[in-house]
Amino acid sequence: MPLVPMKQILDNAIEKNYGVGAFNINNMEQTLAIMSAADRTESPVILQASRGARKYAGSVMIYGLVQAAMKLYPNVVVSLHLDHGNIPASCKEAMDDGWTSVMMDGSLDESGKIPTDYDTNLRVTAEVVQEGHARGITVEGELGTLGGVEDGHGSDQVILTDPVQAAEFAEITQVDALALGFGTSHGAFKFKAAPELRYDIVEAVNKANPKLALVSHGSSSVPPDLVAIVNKYGGSMPGASGVPVDQIVNSIDYGVRKINIDTDLRIAATGAIRTIFSEKPQEFDVRKYLEPAMEAMSQVVEDRMVSFRTAGKASGIGTPITLEAMAASYKTDGAFPDFDRIKG
Ligand code: G3H
Ligand code: 13P
Ligand code: ZN
Repeated sequence: MPLVPMKQILDNAIEKNYGVGAFNINNMEQTLAIMSAADRTESPVILQASRGARKYAGSVMIYGLVQAAMKLYPNVVVSLHLDHGNIPASCKEAMDDGWTSVMMDGSLDESGKIPTDYDTNLRVTAEVVQEGHARGITVEGELGTLGGVEDGHGSDQVILTDPVQAAEFAEITQVDALALGFGTSHGAFKFKAAPELRYDIVEAVNKANPKLALVSHGSSSVPPDLVAIVNKYGGSMPGASGVPVDQIVNSIDYGVRKINIDTDLRIAATGAIRTIFSEKPQEFDVRKYLEPAMEAMSQVVEDRMVSFRTAGKASGIGTPITLEAMAASYKTDGAFPDFDRIKG
C-alpha cells in the first residue's frame, strides 16, 4: 500500500469519532515499533519526523525506513508527515522528498522559539497550503502556542487559541488540520501543577468547523511507571509529568483527531536500555538492548491506539487516495487560500 495523504486518515477519524496517534520517528527502532503496533491493532497511523529528525537520520534515510516498514507491514495505512516545519521552504523540501503531509508551524518564528503575529502566521501557512494542495499534500497549521521546549523547539510562552480567530484562520488558509493551544505542553516536564486542558476551546473550534481536523501537540502522558524505571536505573527525571491518557481521550470527544506523541516513546526506550545496562553490565551487543527498547515503545503505541479508539479502524479507510486524486479534489472544492484577506 502506498503512503496516503494524512487527510484521508483524518477524514475517517472525523467521520467515525476517533483519534489517531502521530508518533515521531528518528530511526529504525521507532519506525518498526510503531508500525508493528499499528499492524497488531489494525490501526491507521501517522509517522512524523521533525526537522531535527531529518537532520539526524537524513530525509532519504527516514523515507527509506518508512518504505521498508511498509513492505514488512503491507496492511498498515500510513501517512508520513513533517512535524513543526518552521518556514515554507522546509515544508517544500519535505513535499519534494515524498512526504504526504506537512505542518507549517507559523505560530512561532523561523527560530521555533518566538511567537509570531497573526498576519505572519496566516501568510506563511497560506503559502504552504497553496503549494501543498496543488500537489495533493495535506497541510497542518498551528494557532496559539504550547508551553514546554523540546530540543530547542518551542516557546516558554503559552498562548491559548482564540476559537473565533481559529475559525477565520482555517477559512482563509484552508488548512486541513489545525494544532491548538489548549493547555498541553511539549516534553517530559509539562506541568508544575495538575494539567488543566481547556476542552471548551477544542469544542468551540470544532463547532465552528466540524470538518477541520484538530490537533493536540504535546500529548505524551509521561507514564509514572516508565519514569520510575528510568530513575531506578541511574536516570534522573525529577518532576517529570504529562497529560493523563484519559484527558487526551476526553479531548477526542470534543473534536481532537491527531494526537502527537514523542516523549513517551523516548522514556520507554530509555528505561528499557537503562535496565539492560544496569542488570547486565557485561552486555555490549546493540541488539540486546535495542530490541527491549523497541518492545517497550511498541507497547506504549499499542496502548494509545486502543485508548484513542484507533484500533480496528484500518479496514474502514478504503482504497488509498493518490496525491493526484487528492489534488483534483482540492481543485474541485476550491480549497485554496484567500490571499485577498491576508495583510502584507
Ligand atoms: O514537538 C517536537 C517533537 O517532539 C520533535 O522533537 O525536534 O527533538 O525531534 P525533536
Ligand atoms: P510530546 O513531547 O508530548 O510527546 O509531544 C510531541 C509533539 O507534540 C510533537 O510535535
Ligand atoms: Zn509538537
